[in-house]
Formats: sequence, structure tokens, C-alpha cells
Amino acid sequence: MRASLVVGGVLAATALAGWSWFTLSSPVWSPAETKLIASLSLSTLPPLPPDPSNAVGDDPAAAALGRALFFDTRLSGNGQVACASCHLPDKQFQDGTPLASGMGQTNRRTMPIAGTAYNPWLFWDGRRDSQWSQALGPLESAVEHGTDRTQVAHVIAAAYAVDYEAVFGAVPDLSNLAEHASPLGSDAARASWAALSEAERDAINRIFANVGKAIAAFERTILPQPTRFDAYADALTAGHDTTGLLTPTELEGLRLFVGKGECTKCHNGPLLTDQHFHNTGVPAAPGLPADSGRIDAIAQVLADPFNCLGIYSDAGPTDCAELRYMDREGHDLVRAYKSPSLRGVTERAPFMHAGQLGTLAAVVRHYNEAPAAPAGHSELEPLAMSEAELAALEAFLGTLSEAGSEGNQP
Ligand code: HEC
Ligand code: HEC
Repeated sequence: MRASLVVGGVLAATALAGWSWFTLSSPVWSPAETKLIASLSLSTLPPLPPDPSNAVGDDPAAAALGRALFFDTRLSGNGQVACASCHLPDKQFQDGTPLASGMGQTNRRTMPIAGTAYNPWLFWDGRRDSQWSQALGPLESAVEHGTDRTQVAHVIAAAYAVDYEAVFGAVPDLSNLAEHASPLGSDAARASWAALSEAERDAINRIFANVGKAIAAFERTILPQPTRFDAYADALTAGHDTTGLLTPTELEGLRLFVGKGECTKCHNGPLLTDQHFHNTGVPAAPGLPADSGRIDAIAQVLADPFNCLGIYSDAGPTDCAELRYMDREGHDLVRAYKSPSLRGVTERAPFMHAGQLGTLAAVVRHYNEAPAAPAGHSELEPLAMSEAELAALEAFLGTLSEAGSEGNQP
């Protein structure tokens, strides 16, 4: 393996001289390795396909409305929480804390947003199947925005009627409706919801779904930017001189990432994620209720009235293949979580779905040791890497960040 990286002819000479192979500026990769490295470059990311469930997904007017909504604290129970409170634009749209805080504290870590338009499943457990249906969850969560769909509709009527109408048509008259009403939420909000007519509920649900669709149109514009790794991969693929693009330690880390570390089993493709769910034996977060990950999300995404097959979706009968053909059962779904993209990961401590691991050093050590899972069965096997190899792997992860930038601004 190691020898394959070294220019054959100089191998003996360097070994004799006692040099490390690191000192060679141009490692030689096997054809299979070159192909794998090329497949991780951002330049292989296809153009964003349309989301058939969201007819306004690529409408700039919808994106402008969604951008305003994303930063609007009026969409909250206390007037202080916006999506951007947890998804900070200058922190890759996350917040750098183990557990997110809005009106209260959540049981999971805030996820970054760049490139999530490519994800068939949203959230760590994939309990939503589109960006627009995902956006509706935090609005009605008591510990996040703590608002409800009727209050959201009133904010749209009062503050966004013109912009909303330009994208979705006129806002219906809501002046006779209670301030708060939702099938979720407080007893009072549920009682008000029960008192509404079917047509009133539908009108509110439609505005609510459209709020999600506008926010999703904005989120679709947030995409990852090229990194030092991409510059290296592209130069390698093109047969150009790669000297100096990555350091010898970073190259050693890349060799481990695509080889002995088996990282590309799950972190593959240009977003460094297979978009699937895996149990990797991540420890339970102390003090939180038991979290079973993907297995509990199946029923939730099927029951979601805003899913791809629901009446507020714009998808046709032949769309929604992901939802129709998803894996619904299996021991491997217990404590399985979505493989996150590793783009920009170095600047996003702490790590994992509840911030269980504080540093990247702890993450690579976790993979090396492959501890037993607190529930279900971990897919990992111990890697037997040396300290130097773990440090190299960590150094490689740093090449997946934008050069000289902390995050992307839309
Ligand atoms: C209180 C903090 C908080 C607020 C407010 C919040 N989020 Fe999140 N966001 C999170 C957390 C925590 C997760 C992961 C939750 C989980 O998996 O259970 C998340 C997950 C997501 C994801 C999934 C990304 C992926 O890769 O699957 C998206 C997209 C997102 N949020 C967008 C939004 C939008 C849009 C809003 C506003 C309507 C919003 N969030 C409001 C904390 C927050
Ligand atoms: C079997 C699939 C799988 C393999 C193999 C794998 N990962 Fe992961 N990775 C995941 C999943 C799933 C998560 C999220 C787990 C969680 O939060 O519980 C994750 C999380 C991470 C994170 C934290 C990201 C964040 O935003 O919190 C890093 C860093 C990481 N992996 C790097 C690696 C490296 C380096 C390797 C190779 C040594 C590797 N992974 C191998 C599936 C995998």
C-alpha cells in the first residue's frame, strides 16, 4: 500500500537515506485510488436537480422571501428566535454547541445547511423528506421557535402579504381566526385548531407549507465552496503538477481516508456523504432520553402530512421514490444516524448528533477504537492506526475547508 504511493525508482534510495516518503512532493496513486479521489471532488457534484415536491424551489422571488423568513424572529413564541439563531451564516449555518438552544434546549446538535438540498432525508435521523417539510418542524417545536402554524400565517398576512402573493397568490382573509391554533402545541392551541372548519385548517396548512417552500428555495442557494482538497483532486485528475497543494502529512491522511481508514465506505461522493444512516457506536449523550435514531424516524416521516406524498406536496404520483421505497425495518436502523458531509468539518466542533465528541482528535480515536454501540450494532471495526496516522487523518480533514474562509455567505 505504502509503496504504491512512492515513485518506484526512488523508493530504495529514500529508504537507504532514511528519508520519509513524505519528503517526496508527488506521491503516485494507483488507478483505483486516483479514481476514488477524483470522485470526492466538488467539481463532480451534478447541478442541483429540481425538487418535484416544491414548485417554487428555484424561483428567485421565493428564495428572497425565504431568506427574509429565515432571519425573522417574529416567527417565534417569544419574538427572539429565528432559524438564523441556531444556523449562523458566519459559522457554516450551525452554532458550534453540543445541543441547540431556542425557547428551550434540544436533544441534538444543530446541523450545517450547505448542500442539504441534495439530501433525500433531513435531520440526523431523516424524519423529514424535503427541505420545505423540514423547515416546518422547528417552527412548531416548543424548544425551538415555539410558535404555531396559525401565528405563522398571521405574520405572513401582516408583514409579507405582497411578497407572498407574488409567489403563491393572495393570502386568504385570516382576521376572524384565533391567534394560536395547531394540531400540535399547547392544549389551548389544539382546542382552537379543533374548533376550525376543514377549509380554515386547509388554508392555514397551505400558508404554512408555502413558508417552508420559500425557506427551502433560499436554502437551495446555500452550497459548499471548493476547498484545498478539491484543488488537489482536480489537478491530480487533470494530470497537472500537484506539488505543494497538500502537505506530506495531509497526503498521508488522504491515503488513510481512502484506504486503511475505510472512511469512504460512508463519507463518499463530492459531498463526502452517502446520504444513508449508520450505527457507528457513538456514545449516548449523558442526561438525555434514549435516542434510537433512524428506526424511530420511519413512522414519523410516513405520518408527516407535509411529506412528498401529502396533499401539500407539488409532486406527481411517480415522484417520491425515496419515500416509497425507503428501508422501513431492520436492526441496522437502531441508533443509525445520517452520515454527515465532512466539508468544512474542522471548524464545526463539537461533533456527532449530540456533540458527544469535542475534538477531531477524539473523532479519529473513536474510529480507531470502534467501541461497542450503546444500542443496536456498530458497523465499525477497530483500525489499528498509529498516533502518527491518526494525526495525519485529522490533518487531511482540514483540507476539506475553504481556504482562508470560515464559511460561505449566500
Ligand atoms: C433552536 C435551534 C434551531 C432552530 C431555531 C432551527 N434549527 Fe434547524 N436544526 C437544529 C437542530 C438541533 C437540528 C438537528 C435536529 C435533529 O436531527 O433532531 C437542525 C436541523 C436542521 C436541518 C437539517 C440539515 C440536514 O443535514 O439534515 C435543516 C435544513 C435546518 N435545521 C433548517 C432550519 C430552518 C429552516 C429553521 C427555521 C425554520 C431552523 N432550522 C431552525 C437547530 C435549530
Ligand atoms: C459506517 C459508516 C461510516 C464510516 C466507515 C465512517 N463514518 Fe464518519 N460518520 C458516520 C456517521 C453515521 C456519522 C454521524 C454519527 C452520529 O452522529 O451518531 C459520522 C460522523 C463523522 C464525523 C463528525 C461530523 C460531524 O459533523 O459531527 C467525522 C469528522 C467523521 N465521521 C469522520 C470519519 C472518518 C475520518 C472516517 C474514517 C476513519 C469515518 N468517518 C468513517 C458514518 C461513517
